[in-house]
Amino acid sequence: MYKVTFLSPGEEPVTVEVDPVKFPLQEDGLPGSILDVALGNGIDLQHNCGGKCACTTCHVIVKQGMENLSKMEEDEEDRLDTAEGLTLESRLGCQAVAHGDVVVEIPMSGRGGHKPPSH
Ligand code: FES
Repeated sequence: MYKVTFLSPGEEPVTVEVDPVKFPLQEDGLPGSILDVALGNGIDLQHNCGGKCACTTCHVIVKQGMENLSKMEEDEEDRLDTAEGLTLESRLGCQAVAHGDVVVEIPMSGRGGHKPPSH
């Protein structure tokens, strides 16, 4: 068992416990990917291409535990290059498979454009 924590601007962090024997949790993205864990736990993460490495809407920024994610394949690297707000810690949620604790941020673009209230 390990933990995946999701951070979203303007929202409380959500941590879910993951049991790898239960993968896949749903149909989109690689089994055990960040997208799989998110959708399987009712967390909103955009996935316009259905988890096929053909868009960038599942872009997440890894805050902790990069070493606990699967190695980036060339397909993901090429696709990620076109992501809005790309960082050195960026991954595609549908391709990055966790095998240990990770903390990821879902950028605004991954939440369907919801913005926190401005004051
Ligand atoms: Fe389209 Fe991940 S859902 S690339």
